Amino acid sequence: MSKPVVVLNGPNLGRLGRREPQIYGTTTHADLAARLVEYGRGLGLDVEVRQTDSEERMIGWIHEAADERTPVVINPAAWSHYSIAIADALAQLEAPCIEVHISNIAAREELRHHSVVSAHVTGTITGLGLKGYEAALAWLATS
Ligand code: DQA
Repeated sequence: MSKPVVVLNGPNLGRLGRREPQIYGTTTHADLAARLVEYGRGLGLDVEVRQTDSEERMIGWIHEAADERTPVVINPAAWSHYSIAIADALAQLEAPCIEVHISNIAAREELRHHSVVSAHVTGTITGLGLKGYEAALAWLATS
């Protein structure tokens, strides 16, 4: 039986492909989702990819993952830098959780250097583009 993993993408990531392509690339969110489902299948993972611009909805999804002990890959996008509510929700997870950033946040504007969620995740992958999500899935598959 394949292991469930949920990939949660935060605000503005639904606009991948059109949003600042010089930073985030030209792949759309739908294409990313299809690619991760396929990649996960090869690793024996049952991957579900979700995206929302609503903090309330994101917190609900994290609570669901906490209750079901589902491993999580999350790109909290801008919430990474200020949302104590998202950080508090992630602190409730018992299964592993990987924080992913497409861009190298340490090499960008100062306001992006700190992530308030990083202390509550298992590990963080930043700056590897969309391949960062695949690296997170590969790690989860062996954990
Ligand atoms: C991001 C980096 C954040 O600073 C930004 O707000 C995003 C995307 C990334 O994936 O590189 O929306 O999380």
